[in-house]
Amino acid sequence: MNTRHFLTLRDLSPEELDYLIQRAITLKQMQQRGEIYQPLKNRVLGMVFEKSSTRTRVSFETGMVHFGGHAIFLSPRDTQLGRGEPIEDSARVLSSMVDIIMIRTYEHSKLERFAAYSRVPVINALTDQFHPCQLLADVQTFVEQRGSIRGRTVAWIGDGNNMCHSYINAAEQFGFRLHIAAPEGFGPDPALVARGGDIHLFAHPAEAVTNADLVVTDVWASMGQEDEQAERERAFRDYQVTPELMAQAKDDALFMHCLPAHRGEEVAAEVIDGPQSVVWQEAENRLHSQKALLEFLLLGRRDRP
Ligand code: CP
Ligand code: NVA
Repeated sequence: MNTRHFLTLRDLSPEELDYLIQRAITLKQMQQRGEIYQPLKNRVLGMVFEKSSTRTRVSFETGMVHFGGHAIFLSPRDTQLGRGEPIEDSARVLSSMVDIIMIRTYEHSKLERFAAYSRVPVINALTDQFHPCQLLADVQTFVEQRGSIRGRTVAWIGDGNNMCHSYINAAEQFGFRLHIAAPEGFGPDPALVARGGDIHLFAHPAEAVTNADLVVTDVWASMGQEDEQAERERAFRDYQVTPELMAQAKDDALFMHCLPAHRGEEVAAEVIDGPQSVVWQEAENRLHSQKALLEFLLLGRRDRP
């Protein structure tokens, strides 16, 4: 099998993505039954983190343990990457030793350069531009709760950031309608919006959530934007997901947030801790969906001879 990378959702076909979601649901059921399944014995995942993480690190590391493999956590503080060793050299060396690599970094181009020099699959564990692993968990969660996401309406409220960009890709790949409401000057990359998909931009959150089956938001200042916090709090003041806003979506609309969340900023506590919120299932599904991804990138599909 050729080396496949997962740098954005566009690296897999819609059919492969649907397969991954179903496989994630199956792997979750297997784990809940206590079934031991170790298809990646002796395989090693290298995990390069240039930004903080709780969910991504723990889900990938735990997934490799479940699968009988191993994971190595590499931070810039401990590696030569942090002392300026070229990304291309690091890619060649790491990929000569480990079987698969995930990277969380700043510029998406850095991840692409790494992948270009890697002999093994590379997974995007978040860049400034995209967070595709989170979308696997989000779609899995929607499917578990409500069935297929195809033809549904999703409302993105807030920053046009890496998560919003991955929702734009997901809208096309999974076939849903995406409404986006972001403050002026904080919208998503227009080139991505123009690339296709059923994407609609709105000036006001209330318009965007109308008819929505799912309402999603994220922090106002992402990692690397900490010094813009005060300015962003002002710009995003009217973009909090409140109970009043949720009331304008469909009655059975779900609420998601990739976490970490700031109650009282992008989301009211009553919403994230309320009955429409599925954020804990969403976080747990990082584990199951990434196990499906690791298995797929290393071994291919498991539902075919
Ligand atoms: N949602 C997410 O990626 O969380 P972490 O930053 O904790 O990995
Ligand atoms: N947009 C957020 C997502 C964190 C998982 C960030 O990049 O910090």
